[in-house]
Amino acid sequence: MKKIGLTQFLIERQRDRKLINADLRLLIETVARACKAISFQVTRGALEDMGGSLGTQNIQDEEQKRLDVLSNEILLEANEWGGNLAALASEEMEHPHAIPTEYPRGEYLLLFDPLDGSSNIEVDGSVGTIFSVLRCPKDAAGPDEQAFLQPGQTQVAAGFALYGPSTILVLSVGDGTHGFTLDPYVSAFVLTHPDIRIPEDTQEFAINVSNMRRWEPPVKRYIDECIAGKDGPRGKDFNMRWVASMVADVYRILSRGGIFMYPRDTKNKDGRLRLMYEANPMAFIVEQAGGAATDGRERILDLRPQKLHQRVAVILGSKKEVERVTSYHAA
Ligand code: F6P
Repeated sequence: MKKIGLTQFLIERQRDRKLINADLRLLIETVARACKAISFQVTRGALEDMGGSLGTQNIQDEEQKRLDVLSNEILLEANEWGGNLAALASEEMEHPHAIPTEYPRGEYLLLFDPLDGSSNIEVDGSVGTIFSVLRCPKDAAGPDEQAFLQPGQTQVAAGFALYGPSTILVLSVGDGTHGFTLDPYVSAFVLTHPDIRIPEDTQEFAINVSNMRRWEPPVKRYIDECIAGKDGPRGKDFNMRWVASMVADVYRILSRGGIFMYPRDTKNKDGRLRLMYEANPMAFIVEQAGGAATDGRERILDLRPQKLHQRVAVILGSKKEVERVTSYHAA
């Protein structure tokens, strides 16, 4: 069967299904083009000292690497002139970035984590870019931080690029989750994984077990039961995976099921991952693929954000497993 490219996929959603308009299509194509540029920079690795520290810290007090800052610049430069955005926000910037006055202002807001999992750069592991698109409220002044503080269920598009052995773009505009592989010879994203579905059950979990002593009892109970395997209440053996790069861990779950958790604990009282540009877009993609995502108590997409860089506990993946952990929190 002939495989279609990202542009044809988006045109079908614009023209035939009326799911997106021309501005949103251009926005997604621009983000995808920026991801291609980042993908190329990732392959430069040690040749350009991509994992080298810049000696600066982002708003999260995390050390900024050369590739973190470069990826942020690539996304900003690609997106600020198209006339489809009202403002942008990034993990690497404390405040939203306004569209320069020489360019027209559009109706969308773009949020991104330019380089997720950056501790993997120097070990040549997988990293990625996560993005979320919201509509800018009509009356938004500025638009300032307040304009971005919308629950994840209002996202009009979300996606991520995974820079692994091949570069994959995973995207949802609200009609399922679809995966595209970058064909580096023609520099085009080709639809290789249409309508991704996450199996409801799983025998694989992903969590940083070194934090076990700090977890809340419901998470400890769930993992203890998985580890007990055939001899425990689950009656089956489980496998464990942890890439320490959310994009790679979530892509594995989209491919073969599983559960991913970064729960709140006594050190990270609000959780560790960021709601607006990590948890929300990933929850949207996972739900659109038939999975579930909660913070242990509430559906992530229902949470009302208070701050742009807010942290949140994340439990996502195969539906029945996420429901099980969430029910342990209610018990
Ligand atoms: O957002 C940061 C991130 O790198 C995620 O991609 C990843 O899941 C997590 O942090 C890794 O955390 P840890 O360093 O505890 O393994």
